[in-house]
Amino acid sequence: MFQYTCLNPIAKKGTDIFGSDYKLSDTLEGCDAVLVRSAKMHDMELPASVCAIARAGAGVNNIPVKECAEKGIVVFNTPGANANGVKELVIAGMLLASRDIVGGIEWVEKEKDREDIDKLAEKEKKKFAGCEIAGKKLGIIGLGAIGALVANAASALGMDVYGYDPFLSIDAAWNLSRTIHHSKTLDEIYTQCDYITIHVPLTDDNKKMINADAFGKMKDGVVLLNFARDLLVDEDALISALSSGKVKKYVTDFANPTVAGREGILVTPHLGASTEESEENCAVMAAKELRDFLENGNIKNSVNFPNCDMGTCISVGRIAVTHRNIPNMISQVTQILGGEGVNIADLTNKGKGEFAYTLIDLESTASREALDALAAIEGVTRVRVIK
Ligand code: MLT
Repeated sequence: MFQYTCLNPIAKKGTDIFGSDYKLSDTLEGCDAVLVRSAKMHDMELPASVCAIARAGAGVNNIPVKECAEKGIVVFNTPGANANGVKELVIAGMLLASRDIVGGIEWVEKEKDREDIDKLAEKEKKKFAGCEIAGKKLGIIGLGAIGALVANAASALGMDVYGYDPFLSIDAAWNLSRTIHHSKTLDEIYTQCDYITIHVPLTDDNKKMINADAFGKMKDGVVLLNFARDLLVDEDALISALSSGKVKKYVTDFANPTVAGREGILVTPHLGASTEESEENCAVMAAKELRDFLENGNIKNSVNFPNCDMGTCISVGRIAVTHRNIPNMISQVTQILGGEGVNIADLTNKGKGEFAYTLIDLESTASREALDALAAIEGVTRVRVIK
């Protein structure tokens, strides 16, 4: 029986993936796995039983990913599962920034009791006029699952799309419309585009990447959209750029005291992935990742450990070892198992940055002593018996 907890409400379609072998718990105590959406986990005390965390979403900045790797806790995310939901809101954001739809709706609301509202509307509507997005240049920073969908949709709406992504995956490249210009530098995006939208994960290295220097290079009257994370933008520099007219509108999905209620800024309360479809897709993907890891030891879509797939566990004994990605680990592991007379039927070892994962199918079960000896190898962070 496995035990898991949800730190945020998670769509039922996802939690239904867990069968009768799973118990949903109210607390972390004794849990094998954790499902999370936006709860901040940096200061959370995790019990030693937790070996996996799955974020129902793409960004993992609410999870202490490296500390988890050091404890042998595999952190998963759900890349692409909410991409369409975010893409649709980005397109809406561009339209809201181009025409004063919000101002127009507010005007009607204010004047709703006037008998002559129809005549007055025709007189007043010029106050809310705007421009079209077709024919304008859109720069996309980051062409992952969301950026690529935005690129294709904007291109279909008649925009001239420029994409910048030095880490573009082959899959993403295949999915991009041939109309998208490949920008080799951020400067090309900054200097050429009328609309700029950011679709990169927040890391320690790219905090405030959209800073005064970047704003200085942008066209006057640029529209900036941020549905990724607020900390990617230096908001003090943004406020100056709005005051000078460099930035015409900032559309952000991240409400905070600096941007809320400020002229020239359209703020939504982190709604990008808040659709029934995105929430279900993320929950289902996260639950499937956890099940495959807990039941078979397989890893797919982890942000701190490599992918590893040895299929459904049908061997007599399967063990999973998380460890540092350093020399001599496999020989120490095989020596211990060999010394116990346990034959290895299959073994996969993969590394990702500082951390690595070894999944081993055995022809007989490993003894307690052998498991303890594996756990005592310097650099091993966790030994888990799958079967
Ligand atoms: C994401 O990182 O994909 C979003 O923040 C998901 C969400 O809204 O929870």
